[in-house]
Amino acid sequence: MAAATGVVMLLAAALAILAPSTRALDRAEFPPGFLFGAATSAYQIEGAYLEDGKGLSNWDVFTHTHSGNIADGRNGDVADDHYHRYMHGTESAHRQSPEDVEIMHSLGVNSYRFSISWARILPRGRLGGVNSAGIAFYDQLIVALLQKGIEPFVTLHHFDLPHELETRYGGWLGAGIREEFDHYADVCFQAFGDRVKFWTTFNEPNMMTRLTYMLGMYPPNHCSPPFGNCNSGNSQWEPYVAAHNIIMSHAAAVDNYKKNYQAKQGGSIGIVISMKYYEPLTNTTVDILAARRALSFEIHWFLDPIFFGEYPKEMREMLSSNLPKFTLAEKILLENKVDFIGVNHYTAIYAKDCISSPCDLNTYEGNALVFATGQRDGVQIGKSTALVGFYDVPEAMEQIIKYVNQRYENTPIYVTENGYSQHNSNSMEDMINDVGRVNYLRGYLSSISSAVRRGANVHGYFVWSIMDNFEWVFGFTVRFGMYHVDFTTQERTPKMSAKWYRDFLMGYAPLGEVQTLRADS
Ligand code: BGC
Repeated sequence: MAAATGVVMLLAAALAILAPSTRALDRAEFPPGFLFGAATSAYQIEGAYLEDGKGLSNWDVFTHTHSGNIADGRNGDVADDHYHRYMHGTESAHRQSPEDVEIMHSLGVNSYRFSISWARILPRGRLGGVNSAGIAFYDQLIVALLQKGIEPFVTLHHFDLPHELETRYGGWLGAGIREEFDHYADVCFQAFGDRVKFWTTFNEPNMMTRLTYMLGMYPPNHCSPPFGNCNSGNSQWEPYVAAHNIIMSHAAAVDNYKKNYQAKQGGSIGIVISMKYYEPLTNTTVDILAARRALSFEIHWFLDPIFFGEYPKEMREMLSSNLPKFTLAEKILLENKVDFIGVNHYTAIYAKDCISSPCDLNTYEGNALVFATGQRDGVQIGKSTALVGFYDVPEAMEQIIKYVNQRYENTPIYVTENGYSQHNSNSMEDMINDVGRVNYLRGYLSSISSAVRRGANVHGYFVWSIMDNFEWVFGFTVRFGMYHVDFTTQERTPKMSAKWYRDFLMGYAPLGEVQTLRADS
């Protein structure tokens, strides 16, 4: 008997080790009320860049003035034309074609994560008026979603801001932007908060500030050596000044929401952070420390102030006076806690130390004195995807969830983005048969389900993205959608992944049955 029990325990342990890849993926394993959705952002899908009173955003101006910085020289003027196609049958003549809300409904998602275009709501910022057509657009979108049983999950800032604020304050570099964001958030809470129960202040400010002010890739292209050669900027301190203004803008919006809206509206508020998972390249102490440092510069940079009122030790030591300090008043404002953490997780990568031996620092991790690589002894950490540096490493999802739960007081997590990029191809068949994406989504969802079984505090998952869209500096050269979009006709066509996700959501796709898809992409 004892021996039999021992065998059962060994088997259970073996299964636990093999998980998540060997267990069936079943929606029923996720807690009741778990949000399953898909995500987008305003600039990437809406189009209608000058319509109905919208002001120019920093991305409108950048893509027009710096088209050479975008892989295909294109822009988001039309993008997915979602502004006109979010819903079938709205009265307006140009909104006759189906369909985005219907597409989501047909997939069976119970939530949709989208962002609001600040320039559509407040074209000139706080000093101009509220654009009622902008309010009406999001109002109708929210109503359409709720009518289909889809919970709106709303981001206030996803990289785009009114161009006028870029000019007036130098974007996030000027402290005056804090009041602007506070005002914008307040307008949104007031207009939509009776129906929106999930708010996030910022999307990936940790990635945005590095790409904008350190590497000079995003508008307004600021950087300095060794991170790059731009016409202006200072990569040593601008990212941290911008981040400080963002953290305090976030804190002010959370404070306002908690004091003036939360009790009557009954929603929750959080922030979304981009989270790569860093594995030490070797098991030497220097690489182990490098991986920790990379996680600190990636995650702790924003979440430590929000949870503990202070920047992480590694950053304070390494950046010294380039890193701003929180005043007492700022620390008090930061005492408001977020209700949840949004985790955008796509990939894992190896971290190599650059303190003990020199390396190229003109990279995303350069400020942490870390070099990131997908290769260890000639073996790749996971399968490649179309975006360089993004690998398919599903088990890292569980690691990152565990890490964030442990470090940040077991605060509820929503996986607000996770997805797979494909290259553009001339063959529609190639693009529709997105086996690589099916495998990717299945792997990452299995990893979340494994985390859930082990008690992780995770409550939702959003695929990036519902449909192909404008992928920032990559323009339309890579595709992240479960729906293929023909950018000439705007026709949306479900890919294999859309069918797979729908089957999973309907409870039809146990893991074993889709194993055959592993054939490869
Ligand atoms: C961003 C999205 C982007 C996606 C894929 C995330 O960093 O939030 O806007 O399209 O990754 O690159």
